[in-house]
Amino acid sequence: MTDGWINIALPKGRLGEKAYDIFESIGYGCPEIRESSRKLIFENAENGVRYFWVKPSDVAVYVERGAADVGVVGKDILEEKGFDIYELLDLGIGKCRMAVAGIKGSRPDPELTLRVATKFPNIARRYYRQKSREIDIIKLHGSIEIAPILGMSDVIVDIVETGTTLRENDLEVFEEIFPISARLIANRVSYKFKNGPLRAMCEKIAERI
Ligand code: PRP
Repeated sequence: MTDGWINIALPKGRLGEKAYDIFESIGYGCPEIRESSRKLIFENAENGVRYFWVKPSDVAVYVERGAADVGVVGKDILEEKGFDIYELLDLGIGKCRMAVAGIKGSRPDPELTLRVATKFPNIARRYYRQKSREIDIIKLHGSIEIAPILGMSDVIVDIVETGTTLRENDLEVFEEIFPISARLIANRVSYKFKNGPLRAMCEKIAERI
């Protein structure tokens, strides 16, 4: 969008709410956003901001295609999909880690092809390629922890936040892959044509975090 507004894609859910708190605290508030639970687009003409609530994994799609100028997205999604966007800031929220985990006390046989259950096949492939380890990816969409318990995979590559899901299922972290946090990203064209307002926004956020 090349109008004078700043269009911001927020991930629906707790992370998006935390991110909105940051935008509000630096003067880009849109009070109505706190009132409605089903509305998806909110704007505040006074300070020229428009917010979209989108599925977390879609934020970078809206930004890459210019439907949003900036967005908030987890580093895990950026690493998995590789979007053509600018990563402007680490917002320091939504902190967790990408890890390899498996059944507590067990270790996979290094001689055998490793069966890896994951929502993140590209991250898993890259990680094991760099270790020259042969793997068989089992792509799942949730409740990944069940795969090793049922003997369908040897390990999982997944997000660990508090570690509760692993603990409650008798699993443990074997290896850490990388730390994750939410990033402020920008559309490349927007960053050129709305450079002043976007940089001003970034500077204010950087002071706040
Ligand atoms: C994520 C992740 C783990 C869990 C980790 O799942 O895939 O299962 O959170 O959090 P914890 O370390 O604090 O327990 P999510 O809640 O997104 O659900 P999913 O199983 O449907 O992917």
